[in-house]
Amino acid sequence: MSEQTINADEPTRRDFIYVATGMLGAVGAAALAWPFIDQMRPDAAVRAAGQPVEIDVSGIEEGQAIIVTWRGRPFFVRRLTETEIAAASSLTEGDMKDFQPVDERIGGPAEAASEQWVVCSANCTHLGCIPTTVDDAPEGWSCPCHGSVFDMTGRILRGPAPINLPLPPYVFASESTLIVGTETAGA
Ligand code: FES
Repeated sequence: MSEQTINADEPTRRDFIYVATGMLGAVGAAALAWPFIDQMRPDAAVRAAGQPVEIDVSGIEEGQAIIVTWRGRPFFVRRLTETEIAAASSLTEGDMKDFQPVDERIGGPAEAASEQWVVCSANCTHLGCIPTTVDDAPEGWSCPCHGSVFDMTGRILRGPAPINLPLPPYVFASESTLIVGTETAGA
């Protein structure tokens, strides 16, 4: 994990799903909806306390992105396509202000080596707005507030945001289960 690490129209390929997540063992519910739904469940106190959250990602197809909450803050979870990874990988240090290699920004379940995901903060590093997910590789998110544009892995390409979207600790406990808030599956 990098030094940036900090302690998920037309509902076809690019669906925006907001997943309100619960404590470990309580799988977050997903819905094809935007904007947010079900933001404050009774387990909000658990999230605020920083407990890891478990997300069932089995329904997320390549090219889809969702937002989940952990510690009361939103995080993007995006399953990348090969084309998106290739587009992001083609970018160089000259294309961005806070270069970080793609392989330090993505990960996936051990059981499915071909799957690559990005899990990153959904708060713009300028003033905290939530960027809109776009499907225009290598561009992946665009902030509606002041125009910052991030690539498919959350790296800042242009605009006033000074640094990349930070990465939370996370681990894939299985092919279908992502845990945000820890790097240890058994935690
Ligand atoms: S808050 Fe995103 S560009 Fe200003």
